[in-house]
Amino acid sequence: MRIVLAGFGVVGRSLLEIVSEQSEELVRRYGMSLRFVAIVDKGGAAVSENGLNPLKALESKRLKGTVAGYPGCGKPGIDTLSILDDVEADVFIDALPTNLRDGEPSYTYLKKAITMRLHTITVNKGPLALALPALKELAEYRGVVLRFSGSVGGGMPVIEFARQCAMGDRVVRVEGILNGTTNYILTRMEEGLGFQEALREAQEKGYAERDPSLDIKGYDTAAKLVILANEVLGIRATLEDVEIRGIEGLDGREIEDAKRRGETIRLIGKVDGGLRVEPTRIKVDDPLAVRYAMNAVAFQTENSGRHIITGRGAGGRETATAILRDLIQVKKFMAGGGVT
Ligand SMILES: NC(=O)c1ccc[n+]([C@@H]2O[C@H](COP(=O)([O-])OP(=O)(O)OC[C@H]3O[C@@H](n4cnc5c(N)ncnc54)[C@H](OP(=O)(O)O)[C@@H]3O)[C@@H](O)[C@H]2O)c1
Repeated sequence: MRIVLAGFGVVGRSLLEIVSEQSEELVRRYGMSLRFVAIVDKGGAAVSENGLNPLKALESKRLKGTVAGYPGCGKPGIDTLSILDDVEADVFIDALPTNLRDGEPSYTYLKKAITMRLHTITVNKGPLALALPALKELAEYRGVVLRFSGSVGGGMPVIEFARQCAMGDRVVRVEGILNGTTNYILTRMEEGLGFQEALREAQEKGYAERDPSLDIKGYDTAAKLVILANEVLGIRATLEDVEIRGIEGLDGREIEDAKRRGETIRLIGKVDGGLRVEPTRIKVDDPLAVRYAMNAVAFQTENSGRHIITGRGAGGRETATAILRDLIQVKKFMAGGGVT
């Protein structure tokens, strides 16, 4: 399988690490031989028709700051659009930074890749939150697979779990904690820290997005909620359809009051009729009341009850594993087996 990877940061590099560690197993278990024909970062690209050596790509990035430093294969200054024009591939993987304003540059790259009939995987919430219905239509029209398992819940198989919940049943409501940073902050505030102190700690631990206002103002949760609404409930929503209230206005008194009543305040994203993100009181023994940077999502079904998945909602290797899951689906599709 020939792959173009855009973005060689925490997630992109983790993917190459895992592939280098597990290449034999991927062939043995899934018949999947992954050939990275191009990797792009801000400094340019490394390109090889025969496939780049993952360890050399990682080393070039480490030593030279860009994958374009790859000996003999480096193309400094070249961008993803030129790569898509020039390099033959089967799959495009987008691991570029999230931009919730207009989804760029990923949105343009995704449209181009799908239009060129490349199977496409993204972990980037931006273009999905703004235009998932349009991207799905385009992928269907072009007859390619579009997968985005890592865009919600990092390595947790949230979307796959939801699909299973909906089999022979109907998911009627989704609610959950979809952002580890805010959950960490709220947990630490319960333990007595002030908001700023708790935020600083979350940043030091590497939980917060580059721009933490996306976490705190609720936009990150809202973007993931939009993806779930489309994928699980079939609602053609975008970010504009979400009512959003973040945690920045919360003070210690509210948190103390909840505690006295056996409750806890969590930033919950919820889809039942509409889409809403807001700090919400839940019982401390509700399985959704996870602590620190954990995520939890509940799917209420018509007949089989409420099903909950919890886990770490982020992390480079976790999210790279979600990409591998998506690649396995692409492989199945390419082998004529359809996708699940
Ligand atoms: N990290 C996580 O735990 C996690 C979990 C779930 C989803 N995600 C999503 O995964 C995506 C990547 O996250 P990350 O943590 O890997 O981010 P990151 O470490 O900031 O990496 C971003 C990569 O994109 C490259 N890049 C930026 N603009 C580019 C452009 N115009 N053309 C080509 N390359 C460009 C950067 O290049 P340089 O290296 O040259 O700067 C870098 O390699 C984001 O959308 C994020 O929301 C991340």
